[in-house]
Amino acid sequence: MPPVTGTPVYPRIIQGGMGIGVSGWQLARAVSRLGHLGVVSGTAVDTVLIRRLQDGDEGGHVRRAMAAFPVAGVSDDLVRRFYLPPGARGNAPYKLLSMFRRVASLGRQEVAMMANFVEVWLAKEGHDGVVGINLLTKVQMPNLPSLYGAMLAGVDYVLMGAGIPREIPGLLDALSEHREARLKLDVEGPAGAGPDELVFTPRDHAIEDRTPLRRPLFVPIVSASSLATTLARKASGRVDGFIVEGPTAGGHNAPPRGQPLFSADGEPLYGERDIVDLGKISELGLPFWLAGGAGTPEGLRAALAAGAAGVQVGTLFAYCDESGFAPELKSRVLAGIADRSVRVRTDPRASPTGYPFKVVQMGGLEQQDDRRQRNCDLGYLRTAYRTEEGRLGYRCAAEPVADYVAKGGDVADTVGRRCLCNALTANIGQPQHRDAGEELPLLTSGDDLVSLDTFAQGRARYSAADVVDYLSGVPACS
Ligand SMILES: Cc1cc2nc3c(=O)[nH]c(=O)nc-3n(C[C@H](O)[C@H](O)[C@H](O)COP(=O)(O)O)c2cc1C
Repeated sequence: MPPVTGTPVYPRIIQGGMGIGVSGWQLARAVSRLGHLGVVSGTAVDTVLIRRLQDGDEGGHVRRAMAAFPVAGVSDDLVRRFYLPPGARGNAPYKLLSMFRRVASLGRQEVAMMANFVEVWLAKEGHDGVVGINLLTKVQMPNLPSLYGAMLAGVDYVLMGAGIPREIPGLLDALSEHREARLKLDVEGPAGAGPDELVFTPRDHAIEDRTPLRRPLFVPIVSASSLATTLARKASGRVDGFIVEGPTAGGHNAPPRGQPLFSADGEPLYGERDIVDLGKISELGLPFWLAGGAGTPEGLRAALAAGAAGVQVGTLFAYCDESGFAPELKSRVLAGIADRSVRVRTDPRASPTGYPFKVVQMGGLEQQDDRRQRNCDLGYLRTAYRTEEGRLGYRCAAEPVADYVAKGGDVADTVGRRCLCNALTANIGQPQHRDAGEELPLLTSGDDLVSLDTFAQGRARYSAADVVDYLSGVPACS
């Protein structure tokens, strides 16, 4: 089956995939219905799903989508294990999933498949617009079941950054034909006897209809033309375009190229070498979108003038009504923007991935800091390492320091690290309850957050359609 029929009409606006759960199905659906590309975040969305169930699944949307999942029994099993009527959980801690490992049980894979399926299915419900899914290359272990789950729901685009997703295009081809997919697992420490691989076998899962799935367009997120060239030429299959993301974008950023330099405030300094050569990107002959501070009408016009198909925008969408950020956090930050008390810091240490991570700073906003008692119970950012005895282990630089060091980690790596898994779930109103209180949020946004008022004009709230109107300069039609 041909992967895509006809020449795709590329969207002008891509609503960036924002994890964890900021780009949920409501936001992606709203953008997609307006004729642009709505993107759901697939990162840690299995935890988001079971927390929604434990919070009562208001409106029944999640359970409605779960019922459409093609592997019989998974929906009933998850509802039995996790669903609670609204308010019934009280102050009890959320129940957890087991953390992903190189080999995950079929049941654990099916939760990841289900969660990504649900997010895409709901985002696509009731209209013909296109929907994408964003996954982080670095969060390797859940990625194959996540992609397959999203494809079972008919995802149109896969967008992946935070690493070099060279193997993914070929794996999308395999998954679309329900063939086995093998992805090299990055393992620190001594080499093992055999290859370290993640293996996902669609036929292990009881799906009756094996009609080939539509192969989604694959659009990697890059911050250098050299990476785009490598992917265009050497990826394992077809690459369909690029998001070219600069260092002002929200979330994680690529580190500066060359010798690391820092401002007096400890922020990484970017220079000439970090400016992407758009001429070289154009020469690749594939569509591309600009991201990072591109969320203005001028930004869109400049992108089009530079040969781009459009822009990918995160920060503006992150504070709209349909985004997953907890409503009280959105209004606090919007008020802080209006009274100019907000700033964004590029923190080189916060993320256990080692990539710079943008953190919103604002007086009076209580966020996760060094005083948090470390606890690693979600584990999406754990990386694999091999012990001298040849065993595989998993560690995260934000876990309790003694544990990390006992696993052979360098104590220096732990300094300043935040538990993004727990903080980012707190951002969307799903904080874990601990004896010491609730997990605190840690908001991320692009540098342009501070000028968001040019668009918001003091409004206390706005919708995704307002953002689309503003960017396209034409009234939105729904
Ligand atoms: C709250 C937030 C979370 C984000 N999370 C992700 C993510 O999980 N994966 C990703 O590829 N990009 C992520 N991004 C980046 C956006 O997808 C988008 O590329 C970026 O925000 C564009 O720049 P802008 O923020 O200046 O609009 C995130 C951005 C924000 C603001």
